[in-house]
This record gives sequence, structure tokens and C-alpha cells, in this order.
Amino acid sequence: MQNVAMLGTGLIGMFYTQSLNGQRNRDRVTIVQSRSEERARQSAEEWGVPTWTTDIDEALRHPGVTTVVIGLPNFMHLEAVQKAVAAPNIKAILCTKPLARNGAEAAEILKVVEDAGVFHGYLEDLVYAPKALKAIKSVQDGAIGDVLVARSRETHPGPHSAWFFDAEKAGGGAVIDLGCHCIEIIRSYVGKHNRPVEVMCWHDTMVHPIQAEDTALVWIRFESGAVGQFEVSWTFRGGMDLRDEISGTEGTIWLNHFLRTGFEMFTSGEGSGYVAEKSEVESGWLFPVGDEIVELGYTDMFTDMFNSLEQGTSPTEDFYDGYVVNCVMDACYRSAKERTWVPVEVDWRHGKADPIRREITEYDGKNIVKQETMPDGRVKMILMEKDTGRIVDITV
Ligand SMILES: NC(=O)c1ccc[n+]([C@@H]2O[C@H](COP(=O)([O-])OP(=O)(O)OC[C@H]3O[C@@H](n4cnc5c(N)ncnc54)[C@H](O)[C@@H]3O)[C@@H](O)[C@H]2O)c1
Repeated sequence: MQNVAMLGTGLIGMFYTQSLNGQRNRDRVTIVQSRSEERARQSAEEWGVPTWTTDIDEALRHPGVTTVVIGLPNFMHLEAVQKAVAAPNIKAILCTKPLARNGAEAAEILKVVEDAGVFHGYLEDLVYAPKALKAIKSVQDGAIGDVLVARSRETHPGPHSAWFFDAEKAGGGAVIDLGCHCIEIIRSYVGKHNRPVEVMCWHDTMVHPIQAEDTALVWIRFESGAVGQFEVSWTFRGGMDLRDEISGTEGTIWLNHFLRTGFEMFTSGEGSGYVAEKSEVESGWLFPVGDEIVELGYTDMFTDMFNSLEQGTSPTEDFYDGYVVNCVMDACYRSAKERTWVPVEVDWRHGKADPIRREITEYDGKNIVKQETMPDGRVKMILMEKDTGRIVDITV
């Protein structure tokens, strides 16, 4: 059983506290910290948290607290981690995404926890969404063969607090805010041992009157030859679009996590209510989400974190993963600036990945390119002559 100090009572602090204290869990948030007294008290009352404070150090040193969850804005993560390692009772430091504003800051955070020898977990919830967990397991079990392309999209109308739009405080715009999710989703499908080699990124500020980018398209080439592709935007209208597609040599997976997932409701607007995160309307045709906490992965994420802590293992997502994600995002920004492919500069710890397998079968001494049954029942075979590269087709 872990007693948690929750730093931050904004959107994510609320989701995290709700996932830990909203059900009959063993692990509980026992103190919440917020800048504002009123918000700290409100949040504690709402989620059954016995104590609240406005002071980070007081939260970290609160009697019985073993774990800290950092749900503060990006520019505060490093300082919060430094304070947490200095608190003698803290055994585990869990930090929300992105780990930092850039790769250098993420490396500093990683060094702080590794030097202190404290457990660290990177709270990337979207790789723990129940559908994602099953899809990742299927890919790992070989159900779709070797992964060729992993695509991920996270788009919505834009974040809910000022600091997100301030590139200095956040570390960037939509790439930092949403790209971090997509990169870790993509890495989970192509394999975490698969080094991200180079990146091509286009970004622009299409709608919001800000300096940071509000839209980006990115391609990542991995060592195996697999390609990651992601789209992030703060300009999407109609809610929050979270979709992934994975193409492999033996199969395909399509995932829709949030909109049109099988729960559709029409209301004239009589009696209003919360629909789902970033939903823009409360009447007409709506796409509510059953249990956001579970469907966004928070429940399984904390289970993995606390099980790993208690079993002395590493969680699926730790600060090294957060560091790799930041290094890929650094490459995105360099690529967009230089308008070309750029290498991902990362201190790589995972060894080498095998290239995508290409098994060549033959017919009549030629390489079989493809075989297809036509509507009239004939079977056509497309073959390549090995010496000349000439392509021919025959009916068999
Ligand atoms: N799915 C996810 O994993 C997810 C979703 C949303 C946010 N986040 C991350 O969580 C962190 C916090 O985001 P949020 O959405 O909760 O933000 P928010 O603006 O809703 O809340 C920020 C919290 O930090 C506190 N705070 C302390 N000092 C602050 C300062 N100087 N300026 C602004 N706030 C200050 C605020 O009082 C508030 O409690 C960010 O790193 C963000 O990227 C993760």
C-alpha cells in the first residue's frame, strides 16, 4: 500500500486523484498540494483526501507519504524532482508527461533520480489504455508480424491553461503537449528496443494567436526500418480525437480511444452535463466516454507503477522513456527549423533492433511478388525475374 502526495490540483492532478481515491483502492492520496489554498481544500474535500497544503516540501514530508506524483506544469518538473529526492521518506517519484521541456532537462531529471537510487515512473497513460494494452500485447505476440508503420493522432481544440500556450514555460506547443503521447504510443508498437534514428517534422501556427506551434505532422524512422507517423493539433474541432493505426507484415490494428467508440447519444440540451475531456458541446449528437479514468489508461498505469515498486522491478514506463521522448521532440523542433530530416540525438541504452524480415518465396525460379484470386476464380501470380528485375504475371 502506498500513501501518495499529489503535487498539483489542475486537470491532471484531478484525474490522478480521482483514479486513486475514486475507487476502493489500497493506494491513496493522503495529501494534495496546490498553489491556491481554496483549490487545495476543495480538491481534498472532493476526493476524500485527509490533508491539503500549499507547500510542496510540506506535502513531500507529510507523515506516512511514500510516493510523490508530480502533476505540475512542465517548467516545474525538474525542481519538483530535486525536492522529492531530498525528502527522506519518498521511495518513488512518478511524473506526468512530458518529463521535461527538452532533452537536456530530461537528462538532468533522469540523473537526479538515478544518482539518488529512487524508483521513477513516467506517467504516460495512453500506452496503458485497455485497448492499447491488448493491442501492444498482440503485436508483441507476433499477431501482425513485423511492424512497418505505426501512426498516432492526438488532436483537440487546445489546452485549458495559459502556461501550455507559453513556449518558454511548456517547452514548445502542440508537439511537446501532445506529441509526447504519440511518440511513446509509436515506440510501444515498434518496440522500445528499436532506436529512433531520424525525424522529419513540419509544424505551423495555423489558428491560435500564439508564438508556439498549434499543429504538426511528424515522421520518425526507426532502426528496424519501421516508420512512425504522428499528427498533433490544437485546432481540431469536435472534441478530442485519439486514434492509432498499426500496419504489420501479417496484419493491421485500428484503435479509436475517444470519439465514436460505440457510445453515441443525442440530446436537445435539456439538462446539461459533462460529456468527456475537451468535448465542445453538450447538446446534439454527442460521443460520451464511459469511464474516462479507465479508458485513458490511468487505472492500469498506477497499477503497473505500484506493482513494480513493491516487486522491485521497473515499470513499463520510467524516466528513461520520458528522456527518449524528449530527445525525439528536440529532433522534431530542429527538423521543422531546418526543413529536413535530422538525426535523433539520444544516449541510447537498448542495444540493436533486428531489421524488418522480408521472406522471399519462389515459383518457377522467380520471386513471387503477389498472388490474387480474381472474381472469375482464376488465380493470378505476379512474379519478378531475379536476373533482370522484369515483372510478369501468369494465371495458375
Ligand atoms: N494525459 C496526461 O497525462 C496529461 C493530461 C493533462 C496534463 N498533463 C500534464 O500535467 C501537468 C499539469 O497539467 P494540467 O493540465 O494539470 O495543468 P493545469 O493548468 O490544469 O494545472 C496546473 C497545476 O499546477 C499548479 N501550479 C503551480 N505553480 C504554477 C504556476 N507557476 N503556473 C501554473 N500552474 C501552477 C496549479 O495551481 C495547478 O494545480 C503538465 O505537465 C501536463 O503536460 C498530462
